[in-house]
Amino acid sequence: MKEIILFLHVVFASLWIGGMLFMAIVLSPYVRKLPISTKIFQEVGKRYSIIGTVIGLPVLFITGVLNAVSITGMEFIALLNSSLAYAITLKEKLMFFLLTVILAVLHDFYLGPKANMSQRIKLITRIVGIINLIIGLIIIFLAVKLRFGGM
Ligand code: HEM
Repeated sequence: MKEIILFLHVVFASLWIGGMLFMAIVLSPYVRKLPISTKIFQEVGKRYSIIGTVIGLPVLFITGVLNAVSITGMEFIALLNSSLAYAITLKEKLMFFLLTVILAVLHDFYLGPKANMSQRIKLITRIVGIINLIIGLIIIFLAVKLRFGGM
């Protein structure tokens, strides 16, 4: 069972980070040159936000908690209250996760739909998206650290 949970966690992590990397590196340099670029970003973003933000982030949280419990054999609350290196790294990961959830909701459901209103909102939407990609990469780094015991 623990393999299935970690498998699901890694699949949704790939979807989350992979989607953002694809947008930033592959899609964006091409679409940005098109006259209807904002409309395209809004349509692609709408679909990605359902799969990545609405479904993906809650699945990552639930499978993440279950991973932590099955790997350490401790209850989640007890783990959060402990000062083990693993627990400290997990708490850092959770803080970045919380930040990513806030920025994703702001980006997908507030800024994104308004991006065609002004150049300023469009720029802020892009910056928030890039910050969230960087946070995502930090979360991956912390996940790798956990694999080595959190040290
Ligand atoms: C954007 C959100 C997240 C991403 C991209 C992500 C990514 C990953 C990845 C790629 C792994 C596999 C690492 C490995 O096995 O080497 C992993 C493992 C893990 N994740 Fe996450 N994660 C996210 C959120 C969470 C959350 C919210 C929690 C806790 C509530 C969590 C807890 C864990 C745990 C405990 C492991 C197992 C680490 C180990 O090998 O000991 N993750 N995560």
